[in-house]
Amino acid sequence: MCSTQRLTTSELDRGAELLKLGGVVAFPTETVYGLGACAFKPDAIAKIFQAKGRPSDNPLIVHIASASQLDLLVEHVSEVAKILIAAYWPGPLTLVMNKRPEVPTVLTAGLNTVAIRMPEHQVALELIRLADSPLVAPSANRSGRPSATTWQAVIDDLDSRIDAVVCGEPTRLGIESTVVDVTGEYPVVLRHGSITQEAINATMSSKIGPTATPASMNVESSDDGLLKRSPGTRHRHYQPRAKVILYSHDEIDSPFPLPASVQERVAWIGLEPTNHLMHASEMSRVCGSIEEYAANLYSFFRECDNRHIDKIYCQSVPKQGLGTALMDRLTRAAAQ
Ligand code: TXA
Ligand code: MG
Repeated sequence: MCSTQRLTTSELDRGAELLKLGGVVAFPTETVYGLGACAFKPDAIAKIFQAKGRPSDNPLIVHIASASQLDLLVEHVSEVAKILIAAYWPGPLTLVMNKRPEVPTVLTAGLNTVAIRMPEHQVALELIRLADSPLVAPSANRSGRPSATTWQAVIDDLDSRIDAVVCGEPTRLGIESTVVDVTGEYPVVLRHGSITQEAINATMSSKIGPTATPASMNVESSDDGLLKRSPGTRHRHYQPRAKVILYSHDEIDSPFPLPASVQERVAWIGLEPTNHLMHASEMSRVCGSIEEYAANLYSFFRECDNRHIDKIYCQSVPKQGLGTALMDRLTRAAAQ
């Protein structure tokens, strides 16, 4: 493929034209940058898998801008789905529903379900409208790498592998959407994100009563059942080239790991800086909140790689609220 066009947010009509011709175009959303193609063009979808180096058994998310586009993808919207749509769309929530037969197999990796979200980002919504089609969009990074939260990160990973990138602002939330299976009686979170498990439980309870939110909804990422239902959890994810080391603030006084040698280049990110880690670190990022930590994590990872850091120490956070999603990404980034 020839060089990747850089489009401004005023040139969305050009991006839409490329999409209609079967091209692939990256664009900003409120979570991370997505790599878009028209959802009913299997050849264009195949280009996405190729550009990312994505395993073909990992299905994509379809982005829509209106209720009528939802009808193109599914025949029936369940009661559970209706409740969550009313509460969270447009926004960082992806719903897994039973698909129409017309939805291409390459998009869903052969599953009979399709993952759908309506983003709340104006550029994303406008591009979908101009393309006049739902757009598939996985995160716009090479497979296994941290998601791209800036257009420059998209270029770092995918330059000359994709037709164009819409150069918007850095993304607001910085981690991928919450993915929820709504094909059953209760919603099941398959991937944690900014719409928290607690928020979903509260929404469900307020609509159909507390007995409707059993503990079984809290499927942990390690569950075999979840692995089968959420194909993306099988693969390597979110990893910078540097080694990621997760530690808890309580470990500070124990024989806490310090750089193994003076040659080793170390970075640190977290909420509460420790003197000796700050001192040993060439790069450090003190985050004022879990939201800020999540929003900055991937760009920090990428900056560390650009500066040839060997080890990144990441402070762990409590697994509650947005902390659950952040710990999921940190744990996967640290996996060997
Ligand atoms: O925030 C986001 O969700 C971003 C932006 C661009 O919208 N997109 C994103 O896409 O993170 P991707 O491809 O990186 O992650 C999609 C996740 C994967 O874990 C995939 O396995 C899961 O959604 N998924 C897609 N279709 C599914 C389905 N039918 N059943 C279960 N999981 C599905
Ligand atoms: Mg991804």
